[in-house]
Amino acid sequence: MGLSEKANQPLGTALVEIDSANKGNPEKNNGQKARMMSGMRATGELHIGHYFGALKNWIELQDKYQCYFGVMDWHGMTTAYKTPSDVSQWSKLLYAEFMAWGIDSNKSTLFIQSHVPEHIELFLMFANITPMGWLERVPSWKDSIEEAQQSDTHNLGRFSYPVLQAADIAIYKGMLVPVGADQVAHLELSREIIRRFNKLYKIKLPEPKPLLTETPLVPGLDGRKMSKSYGNFLGLSEPSEQLRKKIMTMPTDPQRVRREDVGDPQKCPVFVYHKLFSTQDDIKWVTEGCQSAKIGCSDCKTCLFDQIESFVSPARLKKAHYLSEPNLLDRLISEGNEKARVEAQKTLSECRLQMGFTHSREVTKA
Ligand code: TRP
Ligand code: SF4
Repeated sequence: MGLSEKANQPLGTALVEIDSANKGNPEKNNGQKARMMSGMRATGELHIGHYFGALKNWIELQDKYQCYFGVMDWHGMTTAYKTPSDVSQWSKLLYAEFMAWGIDSNKSTLFIQSHVPEHIELFLMFANITPMGWLERVPSWKDSIEEAQQSDTHNLGRFSYPVLQAADIAIYKGMLVPVGADQVAHLELSREIIRRFNKLYKIKLPEPKPLLTETPLVPGLDGRKMSKSYGNFLGLSEPSEQLRKKIMTMPTDPQRVRREDVGDPQKCPVFVYHKLFSTQDDIKWVTEGCQSAKIGCSDCKTCLFDQIESFVSPARLKKAHYLSEPNLLDRLISEGNEKARVEAQKTLSECRLQMGFTHSREVTKA
């Protein structure tokens, strides 16, 4: 629906129809599946930590909720603004990756943030009503000031990151947001911004609730925190040979120097990965074999490699297929964006109307 059509209605009639997520069962909204919203910053390729920390849940949540998933390129730009073409490239890769792992356009809406410009308009509406103090108090901002100054990213975009995030959610009337512990403060701020916006303009956008999902902690290959800068991550679509090399060179229980030394799986990063990927039988085989020195570390790692390889290879193939057909990928991306835009335009038009911006304006259809 175009915006001008709605804008002819008298003020106040287009009040948000949605039942607030805070009433009743948040999993249902007027008999429909509740809306869930989430996204990932486009900052590079995904690793196995992203899969267990978010993507795996997204795939499962698709059946229960009406899901909106965003490739957040504007959020990527808050830190990578010097290399916009990288951000654009990462966005496409991320989009292909999400589809390859099972984000399904028949169930969910998958879009690229900057292709749905309504996010930015709602962001600005929110920016005006967000007191500076609210942002100054955000822990992730306070704690990163020095790093931000050093990396030349002590900028307004990064400062206002949570305001854009609030707009991302509200533009789709998201009621639930699956979050990790590091995002709880941002989500709380989103709720406050939306609450204040609703109160000021008598709008009823849902105040999003966190959907706390269980996620296993995935350490890096060397047992430290998984991080790009440590080079200790497993990429979700790394080539098979690279994957093998990374696994075969993982550090093991330091007590197990020689083949005949017995080891303790609890002290070995390889075992942490077995628990994520291997069957109960294999875990038993590793535990017993390690403790009795019946198996060598390379047997153990080969077994792990086989499991990971068979786990990632179907998605890796699908992703490669999308990337080998750029026209197909572009078409799928545009379709996802269009679907998102229809909803985003509805919300934005309701907000403008309710705020009293009643004059129609030229807006092309999504
Ligand atoms: N901040 C999220 C991240 O670090 C990305 C994100 C942007 C997001 N907007 C969002 C997540 C809205 C959930 C809802 O990856
Ligand atoms: Fe680690 Fe496996 Fe070697 Fe035991 S056998 S030390 S679990 S790699």
